[in-house]
Amino acid sequence: MSKYCIANWKMYMSKKNIDSYFENFLSKDLNNNCNIVICPSSIHLDYVNKLSESNKSISLGSQNVSEYENGAYTGENSLQMIKESNCDFAIIGHSERRQIFHESDIDVNNKLKVLNNSNVTPIICIGETLEERESGITREVLKNQFKRIFNDINFNLSKEFIIAYEPIWAIGTGKSADTETIYSIHKFLKNIINEINLNNCNICLLYGGSVNEENASEILAVDEVDGFLIGSASIDADVFYNIYNKF
Ligand code: 13P
Repeated sequence: MSKYCIANWKMYMSKKNIDSYFENFLSKDLNNNCNIVICPSSIHLDYVNKLSESNKSISLGSQNVSEYENGAYTGENSLQMIKESNCDFAIIGHSERRQIFHESDIDVNNKLKVLNNSNVTPIICIGETLEERESGITREVLKNQFKRIFNDINFNLSKEFIIAYEPIWAIGTGKSADTETIYSIHKFLKNIINEINLNNCNICLLYGGSVNEENASEILAVDEVDGFLIGSASIDADVFYNIYNKF
């Protein structure tokens, strides 16, 4: 199973930050067996591509993709556009897109259909809110998200799918889920994968939510964790590298 250390830079970085990041990051040994994917904001994709293209260990991902092919969709980026910027990956269904920009599971399903027919690997985010967790309905919520997102997809079996379990209460809070929770939820997700006949596809299960240098080794040691989707700890080159080095 492939291993992934994915940086979701969200809306944090300036070009100046990116310059110093790569000056530092590219001087390091990036040759372990884990794939590095950097997801900058879309306006910086070409810029990051130019800086990173000399290093084959680094791939580029978009933080989103439009469900539409082209047309009058102000502010959106199409599959074609992200491919032109050399993206091999695209995050879809991030909880910030869902909560702040009101994306639904149906939107995520449409985006997955677009990516399923392409050579861009989807990084599909799912996760429950604190309220849902406290009401004891985490599994039900995740199962419903899964079913809606994967509804009516004609799976491309040669394709890799990345699913990131990102409990919303753990994102940006400094409080990651504990290893028992991560293990049992990832096990549960594997069962759903089998139920919906996704088991012939190549699926990687990542964890995201307050991953940092201190907790990375412990979480990586959990069976069923194939890597990380990292927000704030990924915007510092040294910190991101130290996490990558734990793989
Ligand atoms: P943090 O690592 O900042 O908690 O963010 C996680 C995340 O949202 C990655 O997509």
